[in-house]
Amino acid sequence: MENCGTNKLMGLANIYKDYFDVGAAINPRVIESGGELIKAEFNSVTCENEMKFASVHPKEGEYTFEQADKVADFALANNLKMRGHTLVWHNQTGDWLFDADKETLYSRMREHITTVVKRYAGKVYCWDVVNEAVSDKEEEPVDRPLREDSPYFAVTGSMDYLIKAFTYAYEADPKARLFYNDYNTENPAKREKIRFLLKELKERAPVHGIGLQAHYDIYFDAEELQKSIDVFSALGIDIHITELDVSIYKHDERGVDFAVPPDDRMAMQDELYDKIFTILRKNKDKISSVTFWGLNDGVSWLNGFPVKRKNYPLLFDRDGKPKAAYERVAKF
Ligand code: GLA
Repeated sequence: MENCGTNKLMGLANIYKDYFDVGAAINPRVIESGGELIKAEFNSVTCENEMKFASVHPKEGEYTFEQADKVADFALANNLKMRGHTLVWHNQTGDWLFDADKETLYSRMREHITTVVKRYAGKVYCWDVVNEAVSDKEEEPVDRPLREDSPYFAVTGSMDYLIKAFTYAYEADPKARLFYNDYNTENPAKREKIRFLLKELKERAPVHGIGLQAHYDIYFDAEELQKSIDVFSALGIDIHITELDVSIYKHDERGVDFAVPPDDRMAMQDELYDKIFTILRKNKDKISSVTFWGLNDGVSWLNGFPVKRKNYPLLFDRDGKPKAAYERVAKF
């Protein structure tokens, strides 16, 4: 089906309106430089960092919502949906939170979640309530899926902190859709651990969906994405793709830093984006939102992680121009 012209911005959200929402992670700086592009292409946004615990709640009793509000106001003014990211995560959270016994931690979590979720109720329609609670260690047993070195686990010693997080979020905004969000969800061992966790969590807390972060690289086997969609939708929950990008480097690749991206790697990226979106379209009844982690190659976190190197992981180049991969996603 040909549904758009060539070399013209067609608006991904518009092209995909019968499939799922299409969004980008943004921040106030990106709104200033790329506000028009965001409005032209997307119908959903996520704060890249501005709603994280350390950003909004740096000290006990002190909240700083200015940056998050800027993004939320932009979303509201331009009729964009907003995903909330994130309430419970072992990173980008002040150490002060964990200097506590179990009951104190739970009451601090409740206070934080209630304050943040209520503030954005009606503006944020879904939350990544818990981010990355599951262990990457393949040798650990499936029935002990949690990261035991997380400070949340260190204080609470069980999955109760996830149950409480979802329950508090639900109490604060019963209309919000609540997600568990993680990466490496296409790794078979981790997928199984997450499935085990969600099955149990769903029995005991209001969990509506899973966020597949989808931080891939050009060597990723897209068939694994189909498997994850099958496994998680069988639990009866919604699926969001929450942080999509396709690095041109292997995660542990070192000593290469392309000032100009090589044609062969870019061709692999085009091919992979095509495969990913073919799979996503095929599963549109199971997926309701797809978010890219950044607006354009120049502002992607992958230019600085896991090492500083020039990366090209998104659909727009450093000038905000659509790349060949954009065409592959936009034309089908
Ligand atoms: C994880 C988090 C995101 C972001 C990325 C890197 O995936 O969920 O919030 O920090 O890492 O930018």
